[in-house]
Amino acid sequence: MQNFIDRLVNQQVVPVITLDNPDLAIPMAEALLAGGISILEVTLRTKNSMKVLQTLAADSRFTVGAGSVNTELQIDQSIAAGAKFLVSPGSYAPLIKAALQTGLPYLPGISTPSEILLNLNLGVEIVKFFPAKLLGGPNAIKTISAPFPSIKFVPTGNITADDYSDYLALHNVVAVGSSWMVKPELIADGDWTTITKLASLKEN
Ligand code: 3PG
Repeated sequence: MQNFIDRLVNQQVVPVITLDNPDLAIPMAEALLAGGISILEVTLRTKNSMKVLQTLAADSRFTVGAGSVNTELQIDQSIAAGAKFLVSPGSYAPLIKAALQTGLPYLPGISTPSEILLNLNLGVEIVKFFPAKLLGGPNAIKTISAPFPSIKFVPTGNITADDYSDYLALHNVVAVGSSWMVKPELIADGDWTTITKLASLKEN
């Protein structure tokens, strides 16, 4: 887990990828890699998302996780497809327990202190703060996280190149998640140059 967290800290931004065409997965990921990004989150929101996940997970250059994991069945399917970490938009005790049993890093979504409390007591170390901007951005994390000094955060939800560093400035934020560098239209257009450029924007 610590190794995974260290890698997140180093990468700073995890691209949240929603893609239906598996043929575009590798060229898109290579464009991200050219910008220094190898940890990828593939959301389970499209018909072929498992195939996209499988395609990327089969390539050792990338560390690929499943996002929008909403059911135990999706946990099983994601692992079968090669996922190396799991992300959910919210917190549901049976799902949290099942995810932790896999031994993979698991980031459940939280938006309240009660959800942090639930996760803390189930053994979760790192949570997705979602939807970050809507909840008040970095100031909301500062306030909500104060009673939970051990919990680490990956804020996600309408974070952009303009404000991600405000989140990273918080001591308990290890990275942010965002789709800003993998907008569906960029991928559909095969605009790999722009994706590489956006991926390279992160501070080093
Ligand atoms: C998510 O669905 O996990 C987040 O909304 C990330 O996507 P966004 O950067 O488009 O908000």
